[in-house]
Amino acid sequence: MPEIKSLLKEERVFEPDAAFARQANWNKKTVAEYRKLGATSPKRFWAKMARENVSWFSPWKKVLDWKPPFAKWFVGGKLNVSYNCLDRHLEGENAWRRNKAAIIWEGEPGDSRVITYAELHREVCRFANVMKGLGIKKGDRVALYMPMIPELAIAMLACTRIGATHSIVFGGFSAEALRDRINDAGAKLVVTADGGFRKGEAFPLKPAVDEACKKTPCVENMVVVQRCGNRVSMKRRRDHWWHELMAEASPSCPPAKLDAEHPLFILYTSGTTGKPKGILHTTGGYLTHVTTTAKAIFDLKDSDVFWCTADIGWITGHSYVVYGPLSNGATTVMYEGTPTSPGPDRWWALIEKWGVNILYTAPTAIRTFIRLGDEHPKSHDLSSLRLLGSVGEPINPEAWIWYHRVIGGGRCPIVDTWWQTETGGIMITPLPGAVATKPGSATLPFPGIHAEVLDQEGRPAKAPNGGFLVLQHPWPGMLRGIWGDPKRYREQYWSQYPDTYFAGDGAHRDRRGYFWVMGRIDDEMNISGHRIGTMEVESALVSHRDVAEAAVVGRPDAITGTAIVAFVTQKGGAKAGDALAAALRSHVTKQIGAIARPADIRFTDALPKTRSGKIMRRLLRDVAAGKKTAGDTSTLEDLNVLAALRGDDES
Ligand code: PRX
Repeated sequence: MPEIKSLLKEERVFEPDAAFARQANWNKKTVAEYRKLGATSPKRFWAKMARENVSWFSPWKKVLDWKPPFAKWFVGGKLNVSYNCLDRHLEGENAWRRNKAAIIWEGEPGDSRVITYAELHREVCRFANVMKGLGIKKGDRVALYMPMIPELAIAMLACTRIGATHSIVFGGFSAEALRDRINDAGAKLVVTADGGFRKGEAFPLKPAVDEACKKTPCVENMVVVQRCGNRVSMKRRRDHWWHELMAEASPSCPPAKLDAEHPLFILYTSGTTGKPKGILHTTGGYLTHVTTTAKAIFDLKDSDVFWCTADIGWITGHSYVVYGPLSNGATTVMYEGTPTSPGPDRWWALIEKWGVNILYTAPTAIRTFIRLGDEHPKSHDLSSLRLLGSVGEPINPEAWIWYHRVIGGGRCPIVDTWWQTETGGIMITPLPGAVATKPGSATLPFPGIHAEVLDQEGRPAKAPNGGFLVLQHPWPGMLRGIWGDPKRYREQYWSQYPDTYFAGDGAHRDRRGYFWVMGRIDDEMNISGHRIGTMEVESALVSHRDVAEAAVVGRPDAITGTAIVAFVTQKGGAKAGDALAAALRSHVTKQIGAIARPADIRFTDALPKTRSGKIMRRLLRDVAAGKKTAGDTSTLEDLNVLAALRGDDES
């Protein structure tokens, strides 16, 4: 597998800092003990974590029921996620947390709110009662399409309180994308806002929901948060203002005693077909996984202010802005806007203002800040930081070193965490008090996680050869399926090797056994840490009246990791050129959202295909990256096509 052979030759090693290790929640001894237990009996390890880190109304009867590829964890156990994230911090020996900040929220215009645990509890109960009043029952789906405001976390926790299953759709997705997700999940209620602030302006959301809900027969009600005060139209009987309903609602609502396998949320992610997959997560296993990993990997202490910069619309936000930190009783920071608004130092000003101790962000953001210049972080006091994290894509060693030196002042360990929407929580990661790090490597699997890199025959790949990243034992936070599509679940993740989860990433292990994740090996692209399927963009393009055929590939980009390049053949009569390219870009934005907008559109008379008619993506990737095409091209239907695409004369 030459394509996933690593080109990295990174040899720098950073040993855990002794002072950090002394105070770490999990020190070397704990980690060694847990690794041993996790290796011999993942079930016993995770049962111990579930007992120690999660509160249960009634205990489980069986730790794991594994009928590949379907897993059930903590079978028969009863619990409630909002109880774990709220009530247990208000009672008994934890009662002092009542007035501790649960959420520190800052809006882009500079307004802020600090919400204590007691207050958050009241708001969540109120909204749970609001939903009950709108007829929402256990098992119903609720779609959340919101900016990064506290009401989003409140709505999530309120769903968990009554056993409604939330489906959050990132606010950057278009009306069309929202409509498809609402219909696929069969959501009865949509919670949204008039808008949110981005780049200094109000970014309207409600009109997109109105557009989407023209064709969503399942939606009965809509609740709208007033955030920006922009004008919106409210449909009588269907639409309600959040503040009006909340003013009437009681602040007490008992948490539902839910089965460990009760559906907690659906979160859509790209797949290798045009249709996004509704990844299903359930209650007990997911909460055990995110609570344990947040405590161990981020070394969360009661005195910490933790900031995960992800939008809650992505899995990182679900697990490490909301559920992981709150279940641990920590203080979590939420920021509404863009990193560079009003100025390029906004993040660093936030860290200084709120005394952030732990920062968890994505390599694409780090690369953007490198380009903006060191003077911005250097103009703020970042000495409160004690730990840094990275997620979402491979971090290049240069970015790692910059993050360590300029943001972490050379003193903060970095945890480079590998995981996915499907895994629910972090899977491969350093433990900051125990594991030596190498820039660019996510190091070793978390205890109880059985990860491996396999070659095509299913044998562990031998260094320096790469292979496919897999997980060989079920884990508690794992997806339980694709909503409404068990067949696709099997095919997508479990058909490559027997009883083994196929992650879709290429990786290799070095002599220490460290994992180096190289990126997607399927038809998915990772744009700024967000997954976009090539097929999704292609089907958006071909739905435009002037497009005959489209092929989409990624090319390396210094900031976003990968940039989208679309090769398009236009229909007879349509004129190739800047005007059509601009029209296609906005068409894709309308169909999917701005994150899927191609960076380059190249018009061509034909696409290179094999004799059987399959588009030769490998060649297109080379062309997009400006490389000489390598490898065998003998199956090309028409070699001239390739020459024309490259823009050279030879054929
Ligand atoms: O390709 C891997 C990459 O992001 C993919 C998962 O994307 P998503 O489901 O959107 O979840 C992102 C946040 C968990 C993976 O298949 N990825 C994630 N973390 C890393 C990574 N690649 C390399 N190193 C990482 N630390």
